[in-house]
Amino acid sequence: MRTFRSDSQWHERIHFFQSVTSTNDLLLEWAEGGSPEGTSVIAKEQTSGRGQFHRPWLSLFGMGLWMSVLLRLPIENEIIKSLSQLGVVSLYDALLKVKIPPASLKIKPPNDLLLDGKKVAGILVETRRGSAPFAVIGIGLNIHQTHEDFPLELRNKATSLVIAGMPPFDPKQLAPIVIDSLYLRYQELHSNPGALDEVWRKASFL
Ligand code: BTN
Repeated sequence: MRTFRSDSQWHERIHFFQSVTSTNDLLLEWAEGGSPEGTSVIAKEQTSGRGQFHRPWLSLFGMGLWMSVLLRLPIENEIIKSLSQLGVVSLYDALLKVKIPPASLKIKPPNDLLLDGKKVAGILVETRRGSAPFAVIGIGLNIHQTHEDFPLELRNKATSLVIAGMPPFDPKQLAPIVIDSLYLRYQELHSNPGALDEVWRKASFL
């Protein structure tokens, strides 16, 4: 696996856990307590992983990358769309870096990632306004699951890197690559806000 490091201090702020309820929940709590931007939480298992629209997100032990990253920025209405684009485009970049073929990877707007036409990853952005606003970007990527690991109703909609014949990546190795992509895209969001939307459109079914 190619290693790629940004200059950021975000690598020093990665925290690995065996089991948490939800990496988003833990990071929301840490954010309220003052953790710095770029803090991330990665867990082998989530016992109450959450998806969009209050759906549960199945996060079995060691089966995927379950991670959340903290950003501190003003939360205006217009930024919400950019933040979910930021999450999915950063993951898309990271997967291209580890040589997942671009032809098989597509963003399904607004922020699902499809591999060979099935959902392989999702993003859950949660924000808090007020005097110290912040956003938590939650990323869930299926890696090791077989068909049988998904509930029946998801089997023809969900996939994993392994089902798609990709290498069985270690989430611990993948996490810093995703962090680097997110760091770089986040810098770009400030310096050239239109660029993210353009990449997102190119990688999307629109
Ligand atoms: C979706 O519904 O597509 C979004 C799924 C987001 C799942 C991730 S896993 C890490 C983080 N912690 C959570 O509880 N959810 C997000």
